[in-house]
Amino acid sequence: MTFPHRHLLGIEQLRPEEITTILDLAEEYVALNRGDKKHSDVLSGLTQINMFFENSTRTQASFELAGKRLGADVMNMAMQASSVKKGETLIDTALTLNAMHPDLLVVRHPHSGAVDLLAQKVNCAVLNAGDGRHEHPTQALLDGLTIRRAKGRLHRLSIAICGDIAHSRVARSNIMLLGKMENRIRLIGPPTLMPSGIEEFGVEVFDNMDEGLKDVDVVMMLRLQKERMDGGFIPSEREYYHRYGLDAEKLSHAKPDAIVMHPGPMNRGVEIDSDIADDINRSVIQEQVEMGVAVRMAAMDLLARNLKGTA
Ligand code: NCD
Repeated sequence: MTFPHRHLLGIEQLRPEEITTILDLAEEYVALNRGDKKHSDVLSGLTQINMFFENSTRTQASFELAGKRLGADVMNMAMQASSVKKGETLIDTALTLNAMHPDLLVVRHPHSGAVDLLAQKVNCAVLNAGDGRHEHPTQALLDGLTIRRAKGRLHRLSIAICGDIAHSRVARSNIMLLGKMENRIRLIGPPTLMPSGIEEFGVEVFDNMDEGLKDVDVVMMLRLQKERMDGGFIPSEREYYHRYGLDAEKLSHAKPDAIVMHPGPMNRGVEIDSDIADDINRSVIQEQVEMGVAVRMAAMDLLARNLKGTA
């Protein structure tokens, strides 16, 4: 397996065969995670530090579990309580941590580009756990693995990404990953939540769910990212749900075996109906969480091999 990267900063830097390498290795970790002895020692002796400058439940828990299952010493920095509050810059914080000799730094930050900048200042492997509205590579990889397992392939599928595209790093990373793997991508949402010039990425844009969902294999819903909006993007949540919330009627336009995805956390009754989210025949939302741990184990394993020079 070749994975010639020092960091995992985004999907943008990955070639299709490298994406496949990560997903294939993740399959092995899915099997490990389903067994009785959920432990390997590929990161034994290495130190992983998680720095989350933005709230996170599942991504932080997932990276922590992934590191522990691979035998790393894992530390979570409580960034809210750290010197950042006292005015220390991101780079000073990074340099301080760097002096403690971590091997893997997992970073989430509210500013697009902050994680790339940090990666230039430290001498360990950096994994981007989400930077602003820029990239969230492990989310796109776990989504890719979930799709590949449900559909038996990750190419030539018709995939709709719906909702708040403009504020979503999940959408951005997925558009790149699914495009590199040669799928047909449709973006559905109100024009106010659609980034301008997005058609250049080779996607089709719709502002009507019934039309956009017609015959798709995969329906990927996004959270309304209210924390990144300064008002005026949607008339009201009720109106938004009426037009863009995924319910049984709108889903009936997709293929009968279409799967439903959501990265979480969900706003039930805003972008997705609870019955659809919980429908075990359609929704793969819990599988996404399961695949998240496996994909993060695979990504950290591959980066660690490079650290040891054994790649
Ligand atoms: C996403 C994120 O943080 O970008 N969530 C996640 O990582 N599970 C999407 C979101 O917050 O809506």
